[in-house]
Amino acid sequence: MNDSISNYLRSHIRTVPDWPAPGVQFRDITPLLQDPTVFRVLIDAFVARARTHKPDVVAGLDARGFILGSVVAYQLGVGFVPIRKKGKLPFTTVEETYELEYGSATVELHTDAVKPGQRVVLVDDLIATGGTMMAGKKLLEKLGGVVVEGCAIVDLPELGGSKKLREGGLDVFNFVD
Ligand code: PRP
Ligand code: ADE
Repeated sequence: MNDSISNYLRSHIRTVPDWPAPGVQFRDITPLLQDPTVFRVLIDAFVARARTHKPDVVAGLDARGFILGSVVAYQLGVGFVPIRKKGKLPFTTVEETYELEYGSATVELHTDAVKPGQRVVLVDDLIATGGTMMAGKKLLEKLGGVVVEGCAIVDLPELGGSKKLREGGLDVFNFVD
């Protein structure tokens, strides 16, 4: 990643200590979203990256992955599919439960969200333990999707998530460490 873009994006991400639990350094991307110039730089970078994979679909992870993924899909002219926390999707679903940096969660995907063989770029704001992104990959693969990359703004390498994802067969990309 180009260092100046990386530093520019990093300077608009706020760290909130001890939220939502003691010991967690929460990386808050809302200052970045609030600034239209930075937001555009970020989305342009996401789109340029995703375009190289020629995806058929962009999938976004609940909830901050929706903000980014839907715009990326729109710009690429492909469909967007939401991977949602359990209990929010109305149609038939597949589901995965996983551990988070703070707690555990179950996510779901509509069974008609992707067709076998479709190429999917998975988008989220942040990789911590990697559990969320791995759950997303598993859900998409249950339907026969081919997850070509997991892309996030931030990776927290000290939590080992991106390493675990790569070892689990998912290429990951991030703009800020
Ligand atoms: C955060 C973040 C990622 C996930 C990363 O979402 O937006 O989706 O955690 O953590 P992991 O790599 O350890 O799985 P969160 O579950 O807090 O949900 P939210 O977006 O609804 O706040
Ligand atoms: N999701 C999991 N860990 C997080 C962190 N440290 N900051 C923001 N989102 C997170």
